[in-house]
Parts: sequence; C-alpha cells; structure tokens
Amino acid sequence: MEHTVQPAAADVAAAAAALRRGELVAFPTETVYGLGAHALDARAVAAVFALKGRPRFDPLIVHIADVEQLDALVEDVPEAAVRLIEQFWPGPLTLVLPKRSAVPELVTANLASVAVRLPDHPVARDLIRQAGVPVAAPSANRFGKVSPTTADHVRDSFGAACPLILDAGPCRVGVESTVVSLCDSAPRLLRPGGIPREALTAVVGPIESVERSARTGDVVAAPGMLASHYAPQVPLRLASGGALAPVQVDPPDTRPWGLLCLRRPPRVGSFAAVEELSASGDLQEAAARLFAALRRLEKQPLAGIYALPLAEHGLGAAIMDRLRRAAAESH
Ligand code: TXA
Ligand code: MG
Repeated sequence: MEHTVQPAAADVAAAAAALRRGELVAFPTETVYGLGAHALDARAVAAVFALKGRPRFDPLIVHIADVEQLDALVEDVPEAAVRLIEQFWPGPLTLVLPKRSAVPELVTANLASVAVRLPDHPVARDLIRQAGVPVAAPSANRFGKVSPTTADHVRDSFGAACPLILDAGPCRVGVESTVVSLCDSAPRLLRPGGIPREALTAVVGPIESVERSARTGDVVAAPGMLASHYAPQVPLRLASGGALAPVQVDPPDTRPWGLLCLRRPPRVGSFAAVEELSASGDLQEAAARLFAALRRLEKQPLAGIYALPLAEHGLGAAIMDRLRRAAAESH
C-alpha cells in the first residue's frame, strides 16, 4: 500500500505471549483485521464471541502459520484440498474440513467441521508462529457491521473495550477470504472472497454455491452468509440493473445521499458525497477500498448510501456479495 507501517518486533512478541495466556489480540491479515484468540482455549474463544457480540451459532476460522499445523486440526485432507492448498496458501482462501476433537466445539459452533486458513501476511504469520498455537479469529468488528481494513477501524469498532492491536497499515486484499467446504463429495463455495471463483475452478473444476439461506438441519451451513451482515449505520440501497443496463444516478430522494461506485458516472446528480472505488475500474483496488469507503460514508449525516452494481467477475463477485448483504439489512 502507499505507506508501510510495521509493528515493532517486541510488540509482536508481547502479542504472541498475550495470545498464549488466553488474551485477545487484533492483528492484520491480507484480507481484513482479525480478532484473535488461542483456538484451543475455549475460555479465550468465548471472549471473542462476547466482545464481538457474535451469536454462538456462527463458527470461527482457525488461522495457522504453516501447513504443518493443519494435521492437528483436521481429520482428513482430501485430494481437492491438497491442490487448493498448493495453489492458494498462504492466501485469502479458507478451507472447511472434518475437524479433530482437539478443536473446541465453541470454535466450530458444534459443527463436525472446522474452517482453516493460512494468511498471506508476514505479521499474522509471525504472530501465530511465535504464539505457537492456532489462532481463532473472526473479522475484528462488532457482529453484523462493516469489516475493518485498518487499525483505526478496529479502534472505532470496539472503543474503550478495544484489545491490543498490531498495526501494519491497510489490508492489501480488503475483502474477507473465500470460504470453500470440502466436507462433501464436491467442493462447495460458502462465501465469495479474496480468491475469485474462476481461480478455484481452474484448479478443482466447477464449484457449486451454497444458497444464502441454506441450512443443514438446524445449523446454518455458512452462518456468515446470513443476509443481514456488513450493515453500515445508514441504509444502503443497491441500484437495480446489471452493469450493462442504464442505472439511475440521481439520489432516490431529496435528502442527502451518498454514492458508492466503481467508477464515477459522467453525471452524478446531486449526491452529498461520492466514493469512487477505482478510477481505472480495477476490481482489486476496488475491493481493497470497499470497507473504508463504506465506513467514511456511514460517518456522514446521510439519508443513505446508494450503491451502483459491479460486474460479477473476479473480485466483483465478493464485492457484490458484501453490498447485497449490506443492503439486506436496510429493507
Ligand atoms: O479473511 C477472513 O476470512 C477474515 C480474516 C480475519 O481471516 N476472517 C473472517 O472471519 O472473515 P469471520 O468470522 O468474519 O467469517 C468466517 C466465516 C463465516 O461466514 C463463518 O460462518 C464461516 O467462515 N465458517 C467458519 N467455520 C465454518 C464451518 N465449520 N463451516 C462452515 N462455515 C464456517
Ligand atoms: Mg466477519
């Protein structure tokens, strides 16, 4: 990114020791900041749910620093998982695999599976390595709200209750990891994210998506796919119409609205604020800037945020997923 912030080596060491003691640490990954806890310490994990205000039916991702840590967490690594790991780890891909009993039920919301990810961020990996334990971490924001891509976002989310934060500047990818389940005969996409579906398909063939409302018995198959998520503090309305259809670019009413768009349309009407995610239409840049833009807009006295749809290829699918869920809360 533009500037390089690095936590001091002593701060990383102190944070690793805090994790080992069962305390919480907010840390950077390439996707978003995570709120980490010792994954095998159920008391520490309970504190994550409490601080986030996260319902206990929504399981956490366990972060590791090296592939060798995987065997202690999962029963089986099927062939498709091996290929995905070779291609995409370290990186923004989370794999859901059959869990071992060492992983507390609280981490996985009593599911028989555990989500594991090896982040592509030197500070995250250094922290996890020094802690010497796997680290359970959801995004470091209050449940259902906009995810954090800077340390300031984490501070804004938790205020006085904020845990220790390792600040390494803005996150490079900006949307959360892609979540793929390998618990069934065929891989299933549970959440679009930093690794586009097209890249996965090139490695393991077609991947079916799980419907947002899909449930397995009483348990939400991918609880993070709850429709109301990423809700900004002002309503968000997603303009209808595909990328090729003409879209309305005047505010929906006369009160001050903000506009969120990939590229600023030639005529933006009378919006009180405009957030252009990438002047060159680059989806990677747009993903990296999405959550910060939403946070800037939600802080202003706006009637709402009017978002223009993006083409759903590459990272556009993950961006549109976040915008749809942000909009779902507002209806
Ligand atoms: O990029 C990311 O994935 C970030 C950084 C911090 O690593 N983490 C993140 O965590 O986004 P969180 O808790 O906000 O989202 C975790 C997602 C949720 O949708 C959750 O339902 C799903 O992973 N998940 C976790 N364990 C699962 C399991 N055993 N089966 C199905 N879905 C699972
Ligand atoms: Mg989250």
